[in-house]
Amino acid sequence: MTELLYDFGSGRSDPGNFPTKALKAAALKVLDEQSDEINNYPGSLGHLGMRQAMAQRESTRESVTVDPEHIVLTNGSMQAVTLTAEALMDYPGDSVIIEEFSYPGTLSAYRSLKYNMVGIKLDEGGMRMDHLEEQLHRLNNEGKLPKFIYAISTYQNPTGFVMPKARRLDMIALARRYDIPIVEDNCYADVHYDGHVEPAVYALDDNPNHIYLCSLSKILAPGLRLGYILARPPMLKRILERRHDAGGNYLTAAIVAEFYKEGIWNHAKVTNASLKEKRDLTIRGLKEQLDDLCIWSKPVGGLFLWVRIPDDVNRQKLYELSLQRGFKYLLGSSFHYRGKDVPYLRLAFGHLKAKQIEEGIPVLAQCLREARTSNQARQFESLFMS
Ligand SMILES: Cc1ncc(COP(=O)(O)O)c(C=O)c1O
Repeated sequence: MTELLYDFGSGRSDPGNFPTKALKAAALKVLDEQSDEINNYPGSLGHLGMRQAMAQRESTRESVTVDPEHIVLTNGSMQAVTLTAEALMDYPGDSVIIEEFSYPGTLSAYRSLKYNMVGIKLDEGGMRMDHLEEQLHRLNNEGKLPKFIYAISTYQNPTGFVMPKARRLDMIALARRYDIPIVEDNCYADVHYDGHVEPAVYALDDNPNHIYLCSLSKILAPGLRLGYILARPPMLKRILERRHDAGGNYLTAAIVAEFYKEGIWNHAKVTNASLKEKRDLTIRGLKEQLDDLCIWSKPVGGLFLWVRIPDDVNRQKLYELSLQRGFKYLLGSSFHYRGKDVPYLRLAFGHLKAKQIEEGIPVLAQCLREARTSNQARQFESLFMS
């Protein structure tokens, strides 16, 4: 098998900024001071100090009060995605609203739970409200209103786009009109490097049915497997009723809580600065190599670029050629809610070294030119199809 030289597939933050020394010190302290607690079951909400730290993270970012008793620590935010989906389902076949392109882990969970996914078209502002309204109207007429709206409104995976505040308010108004909860997945929260931050849905609407999911994977490290749910009663109870694992990993939560005692934002500042450089390098490479053929997103946060490639590219050939030359990306179809083969690819740049980005993009560009089946000029001016 060819060596993977340019892994633009995996969505991870910069390993060069992993705070080994500080986490080591935190681990030693926690083992000294919390051995009694570690020798016990943590309860279904999890380590109090970590919940307090995350409540502080949320309330500082969103300027609203967040109660640590409404935070449930989970095994990554993927467990949060699955638990909420289980809690909100009445019967297999229930509908859920999802962005047309979304996170493959969520798609896989919803598929295996047998949700009927209803995809909403996207543009540069995220989920399109005209399409959401149309679909909710249709589903209501058919007596199949969705159990919830799943939205990655900030640094959307895979597109990287952020839903503006006005559109968030429109989404909230539609959710209210049909009495549907919004499950907001803010997995990339604080992986932010340009401009202002849009408010979270829970900070814009005090409807207790909305649920908020977040993670430490992208801002700190995925191997910690730490995520959380912010849910208020009665939703909180419904979610906890689905939890049968005796709580999350107390030791990891205790170590990370100790690490954050030095301040929630210190690490984010360091790591986001290097992510911004990598985003810029990736965009510069694409501009130099593929400006005539492709269009891509310019995210202000998150870890991904979403690239529209020409229709005349043989997509299977492109994927195979790239892999043969050590370049990996994720296919557009992995993100489509029905697995449709679409002319897109996703580039993850967070964990790569600058040199890999500089050398890798020309490899992708060469493969793309070789995988074309015509010499036609680019036929599209927008990243999204109507
Ligand atoms: C939108 C979104 N949600 C959830 C997850 C799950 O992440 P984790 O379980 O590592 O927190 C991911 C991971 O890529 C993601 O992109």
